[in-house]
Amino acid sequence: MPVRVESVAVTTVLHVSDLHFGRPASSERLQSLLELITELEPDVVAISGDLTQRCSKREFEQARRYLDRVGEVAPYIVIPGNHDIRWLGAVWRNMGGLFRKQAHEFKYSRYIKFICEDLTPSLEVPGVVIAGLNTAHGITRGSITKRFRDLGVIGHVKRADIESVREAFESASPDAARIVMIHHNPIRGELSGRHGLANTETALHAFAHLGTELVLCGHDHLQAVHTVERGVHGLVISTAGTISNRLRPGRVSSFNLVNINERNLRITTYSWQNPEGFVPSDERSFRRRVATGALD
Ligand SMILES: [Fe+2]
Ligand SMILES: [Fe+2]
Repeated sequence: MPVRVESVAVTTVLHVSDLHFGRPASSERLQSLLELITELEPDVVAISGDLTQRCSKREFEQARRYLDRVGEVAPYIVIPGNHDIRWLGAVWRNMGGLFRKQAHEFKYSRYIKFICEDLTPSLEVPGVVIAGLNTAHGITRGSITKRFRDLGVIGHVKRADIESVREAFESASPDAARIVMIHHNPIRGELSGRHGLANTETALHAFAHLGTELVLCGHDHLQAVHTVERGVHGLVISTAGTISNRLRPGRVSSFNLVNINERNLRITTYSWQNPEGFVPSDERSFRRRVATGALD
């Protein structure tokens, strides 16, 4: 019986979130991250939102310069977070719902000007396709909440955006692992006790039905790796921590490195330690559906 030599091709996704340029940003950690991106040579860097703290022009200029430096080393894909949109001004501009279009344009104007015109970008590199989906809408019908501190903070997944994920997956290579990137965490944070997303169940079921294997998210500022069963498929969820100083008590900055080969998906969390810098601190491995024959 011939020996089967399995493919050892590995695709590496460096997943980072919540850089928060402005007061919470840490130049030391941002520089260290850039050096690690150069050293690790990921196939793609996935940035799941909250580039800024106050959505200011200055913060976006800093974020733009940083992304340009990342782009010199690796391709990247980025989506907005709730801190990157001018949601309060948009509320006033949409008084009575008469100026919805102007309000929408105002809400994303700085993000679009400095970062990316596409709020639902997708990117395929050999081995993976990442479909980014904007969950940061400010105060809209889908994310309205009675909790005052969650006003403009909580996110939701819009049906039209699920369609853009479908289109990205349909046009990708059948061999590419399907990855969705959103900003808001669909799993309750361990310390915050909060879901980032308003319509978690709808979103996770939709992602599973589209053949998603991995969901990348941030927002909770606490790294976590989960698996959830939703309908047809299980999903692995990588929640990246923050690079900034907006830390949960007793926790440190971190990011997640995802390695995907034909059979396995491995997530290594890199945590900040002084004076070493970002070092691997935790690792989780999962058998991919293609390896278990669970594909439909
Ligand atoms: Fe954040
Ligand atoms: Fe956020």
